[in-house]
Amino acid sequence: MSGRGSAGPAIVAAEAIGKRYRTGAVEVAALIDVSFTVAPGEFVAVMGPSGSGKSTLMNVLGCLDRPTSGRLLIGGADVATLDADALAELRRRTVGFVFQSFNLMPRLSARDNVAMPTVYAGLPVRERKRRAEALLAAVGLADRGHHRPTELSGGQKQRVAIARALVNDPKLILADEPTGALDSRTGLEILALLQKLNREDGRTVVLVTHDPGIARHAGRTLRFHDGRLVADERTDVALDARTELAALPPPAEAAA
Ligand SMILES: Nc1ncnc2c1ncn2[C@@H]1O[C@H](COP(=O)(O)OP(=O)(O)OP(=O)(O)O)[C@@H](O)[C@H]1O
Ligand SMILES: [Mg+2]
Repeated sequence: MSGRGSAGPAIVAAEAIGKRYRTGAVEVAALIDVSFTVAPGEFVAVMGPSGSGKSTLMNVLGCLDRPTSGRLLIGGADVATLDADALAELRRRTVGFVFQSFNLMPRLSARDNVAMPTVYAGLPVRERKRRAEALLAAVGLADRGHHRPTELSGGQKQRVAIARALVNDPKLILADEPTGALDSRTGLEILALLQKLNREDGRTVVLVTHDPGIARHAGRTLRFHDGRLVADERTDVALDARTELAALPPPAEAAA
């Protein structure tokens, strides 16, 4: 499966990118001279100790933040040449974000959370609802559309967040520790969902994790240390989350 990354031009091309933050008198180099490309259809894990620059990288790849040096192309577009509107448009059309903390709006139902990003895409209300409901069904939550986030389990919240990330049909899914707050079974279920989006829909996935067991589901691992990319490893034997789930005892037994 890891051979799938070869078709077409890179969806991500980072050329010696750097990111510096200034807080008062102190300057932090969060990313230093980072170069790599990601081909369409790859599933990439990003690993590294706390503070090594993983979230900074995700924010930069997702065009939430700009690199302070180097060149970054997303879907062939050099982000430095885009104004704020064009950048927002690229982000909306190309990228789906999944955060560790879900980032759901507490007062909105699951369905309205999923439909949120389509407000900016200018879709009619009826189409927005239809799309949100179809996506909730696709992540196994057809019967939870009216629930608020506080009425959902952690795994269900993360599935709502993934459905929301998909609502504008992104080619690139950026997931920052999407399983970090979940137990191992629920984490595997989320991984199985991300692998499905990768293998069946051909979406590119870049996933941050601290857990080597999670990273073994990726075809490739990028390792960061102190803001530098220190290793880029590929495997031909990525684990399959669905197969592992099938081998687990049933949930009732596991919970007892
Ligand atoms: N907005 C900011 N302003 C100043 N410094 C920042 C900012 N965001 C991150 N940093 C610094 O940049 C470095 C990289 O942070 P980053 O959040 O990318 O790490 P991380 O690898 O995601 O860590 P973790 O595993 O703990 O989430 C850290 O030293 C951090 O303190
Ligand atoms: Mg982080």
